[in-house]
Amino acid sequence: MCGIVGYIGTADAKEILLRGLEKLEYRGYDSAGIAIANESGIHVYKEKGRIAALRDVVDTSEESEVGIGHTRWATHGVPSQLNAHPHQSTTSRFTIVHNGVIENYEQLRREYLEGVEMVSDTDTEIIVQLVDTFSKDGLSTEEAFRKTLSLLEGSYATALLDNTDRDTIYVGKNKSPLLIGLADGVNVIASDAMAMLQVTNEFMEIEDKEIVVVTRETAQVKKLDGQEISRDSYIAELDSTDIEKGTYPHYMLKEIDEQPFVIRNIITKYKDENENIKLDEEIRSAVTDADRIYIIAAGTSYHSGLVGKELIEKIAHIPVETHIASEFLYNMPLLSKKPLFIFISQSGETADLRGVLVNVKELGHPALTITNVPGSTLSREADYTLHTHAGPEIAVASTKAYTAQMAVMAILAVDAARAVGVEIDFDPLQELGIVANAMEIFTEKKEVLEEVAREFLSVSRNAFFIGRSLDYYVCMEGALKLKEISYIQAEGFAGGELKHGTIALIEEGTPVIGLATQKDVSLNIRGNMKEVVARGANPCFISMEGCEHEEDTVVMPAVHEYLTPLVSVLPMQIISYYAALHRGCDVDKPRNLAKSVTVE
Ligand code: G6P
Repeated sequence: MCGIVGYIGTADAKEILLRGLEKLEYRGYDSAGIAIANESGIHVYKEKGRIAALRDVVDTSEESEVGIGHTRWATHGVPSQLNAHPHQSTTSRFTIVHNGVIENYEQLRREYLEGVEMVSDTDTEIIVQLVDTFSKDGLSTEEAFRKTLSLLEGSYATALLDNTDRDTIYVGKNKSPLLIGLADGVNVIASDAMAMLQVTNEFMEIEDKEIVVVTRETAQVKKLDGQEISRDSYIAELDSTDIEKGTYPHYMLKEIDEQPFVIRNIITKYKDENENIKLDEEIRSAVTDADRIYIIAAGTSYHSGLVGKELIEKIAHIPVETHIASEFLYNMPLLSKKPLFIFISQSGETADLRGVLVNVKELGHPALTITNVPGSTLSREADYTLHTHAGPEIAVASTKAYTAQMAVMAILAVDAARAVGVEIDFDPLQELGIVANAMEIFTEKKEVLEEVAREFLSVSRNAFFIGRSLDYYVCMEGALKLKEISYIQAEGFAGGELKHGTIALIEEGTPVIGLATQKDVSLNIRGNMKEVVARGANPCFISMEGCEHEEDTVVMPAVHEYLTPLVSVLPMQIISYYAALHRGCDVDKPRNLAKSVTVE
């Protein structure tokens, strides 16, 4: 959570920082700020709310070629102008932005900062006050910065300006993501390359517990003990048009519509010249060597992990458990003798998953990350990575990343099955092509789904999604989508479980969305729907050809029974989108959420 940027060059730093922060708003958006340096000193502007609010308070006449910026998702201290970054030391010599959580800030404050008056409620302020204190003790800025970072426990991506040398930015990193962008006479920093594609596509990674001293011409990487390190740069394969909305009113709608292209892209990326699955031999061996697979994920990725379990077990006959990362971290079950861990994460940065990955590595077990961001922390730290090739996902509510994750897991499962000689009559590359075509019908069926949202969800306080087997998992995801962006209390339930308690909540007019794509349980779920209708529920039934009834609201084209979740989630996504829109909610940036959750 939180995004940081920095710029040192020859252009107008203010505008570049503000534009960069706009691209990072998905990381948090409850307050924002920038600090710019020029001949007259360092000028800080910050405001509660979005970047648009910050723009209103920035003095446009103040010229600058150097600056740092921050967009915040509050952890320590309420969202307010006071707690917004950048923060300054009491002397105003140093100014800092920070993404992460400093766990020992109370202890450091007691030990080193007695008598220093803190202005904000944040853990961040401790960093800037420590640098100031150590520099007063006679250390250079770089030494004071390195000493400070070596005392910190927790996570940080941070950038520091010094009022006595306004042509240098000091940056440091531990656990939170941070990149340095390189160009001719210009260097930039960013939590995510997308923010600085406006300046360069050449980037350099920073490892944990390293600092970088950034000037216009140089970016010197050092360890916390001062030892210099040489680091190669790479060209980010990102197209800046991928991160624009184009003619769409919201990123979420654009990303929903991109799903057929994403699936076709995955087919291309995972197909060799003989039309067979293309996958690293090492990954194949890691999967087939395992006696049990543990899928670790959070949020929407957890829901795709539930489907992944079914796919791998049914197709490759390897036992799989899917776990919520934050639970697994502190309550690890008894592990099998030869486990493989699969981390599923759109961002590749989720702190809960990283915590588990660190533990798993300590235990010496192999780990595979399935992510949309190769080069992300989880990707770099795992033994293997599978890329979901969904393109940048900007809307906070995940859509195309979810379907991409399931597509990749289907390919992985079949590859493993073939390697161990399990006979299967399922060609994922071909069947995913059918999925992509089936997804396309939703670009035309939006009016029907908008009507469903209007009729069922414009004023309701709650909603239920019911399904069985794979449909149950999609219902969990449908409910999460609706909660996230429309703030309607929604739950996804196993149809058969409803009557064991939750049916007590059904009253006159309660919206219940039923899903039937699985032939073997389609009559059962219709029976469950009758039970709620008999108690006054307002029913909406979504089915797939082969399971359909005349009265169903939406009937999807048939796809292979293993792959139904990739199609059946689309109506859920679209209904949620319109429900949020009709209720006047901010679809792409729902309240209290952030897309990249880098705190536990
Ligand atoms: C946050 C986002 C969710 C996402 C979850 C896991 O909570 O708001 O949309 O599903 O993190 O993120 P990951 O990047 O690990 O898939």
